[in-house]
Amino acid sequence: MLPTLKDYNFQGKRILVRCDFNVPINDGKILDNFKLQKSLPTIKYLKEKGAKIILLSHLNQPKENQREKYSLKPIALEIEKLLSEKVKFIKECLGQNPKKEIKKMSDGEILLLENLRFEKGEKENDEKFSQALAELGEAYVNDAFAVCHRKHASVVLLPKFLPHFIGFQLEEEIKILSHLLQNFERPFSIIIGGVKVESKTKVIKKFLEFADHLLFGGEIANVFLRVKKICLAKPWPGKNICKIIEELDLTNLKIHLPVDVLVSPDETGKIYIKETGVGNIKKEEEGFDIGTDTINLFSEIIKESKTVIWAGPLGYFENERFNQGTKKIAEAIAQQKEKLFSLVGGGDTVFALNKFNLRDKFDCVSTGGGAMLEFLAGEKLPGLEVLKK
Ligand code: 3PG
Repeated sequence: MLPTLKDYNFQGKRILVRCDFNVPINDGKILDNFKLQKSLPTIKYLKEKGAKIILLSHLNQPKENQREKYSLKPIALEIEKLLSEKVKFIKECLGQNPKKEIKKMSDGEILLLENLRFEKGEKENDEKFSQALAELGEAYVNDAFAVCHRKHASVVLLPKFLPHFIGFQLEEEIKILSHLLQNFERPFSIIIGGVKVESKTKVIKKFLEFADHLLFGGEIANVFLRVKKICLAKPWPGKNICKIIEELDLTNLKIHLPVDVLVSPDETGKIYIKETGVGNIKKEEEGFDIGTDTINLFSEIIKESKTVIWAGPLGYFENERFNQGTKKIAEAIAQQKEKLFSLVGGGDTVFALNKFNLRDKFDCVSTGGGAMLEFLAGEKLPGLEVLKK
């Protein structure tokens, strides 16, 4: 059993709340606020209970020179709007300034610290970094299911130093996913796309044991095609990823790869776009969406399915020239609404569905993409394991 928010008296206490505010953002403009909305019930509850609320999150995977691009400042403004409450933003997550500001907080106040991944201690899972963070609070709440598969300091070390609890969002996601695992109907299909390939390749072997169909699009499909030497275009996947894929039985009939794709020399699609069989992709081209035959093939499988899980867009949907694969597959699922159970997860996939106005056609929506797949594959998520202790 994981300790919940009802198990603690938060009155007057400084509470560190690990959220997942990793939203699509461009030039400081938030393109989809789904994850922010999901964090509101916990924040509101803690406010009601008189806690001093210190919000923590990462945004993207920032490089050294991307502090401005991936600052959490716009997130503070958006949460402020959604809550109609002041949210103070502190442009560091460690040091004298956060300490000083936190000391001044009154009960019920909300404060957001800067992107945790600006400090290398976060991803390096550094003990000193998490200890310094822990000193800012008196208890810890994890409400970030989407990041529970990462062994990062604020996820797996921080709770070791403080009384810890799960937030409402995390509690709900675990409940839904656990229920699904025990009750799904067959045929059971899993659609995997998106750009974060490594965490997704890890779970394929497990899914091959209990799912009926695995449908691949997006970057992970490109990686399969390269490893199978069907497509020789760059970039070549890393050794780790190749090894995992090579160890799979790629003749397994449960695996469905694209048979055709939209290719272009670059992601703008302005030079040219061509629909081609996957065997005819030139070295200088890259696949940016699945093609018509693949859409038809995948749609047929969806039609026959009773349960469909989906993580990761099937193409570079942010560019309208390459959004048809993702859109048509979303429509194929939506058309079967009465006949199948659908679960979709991950910030980008949810953003795509919102763009196509199709999100409400899905039975359940998870904030996690990689985390959702790992959970469903029966992996122990380090961020959850530590909360059990
Ligand atoms: C997500 O969007 O899947 C989570 O925020 C985790 O992000 P990450 O893949 O950059 O760790």
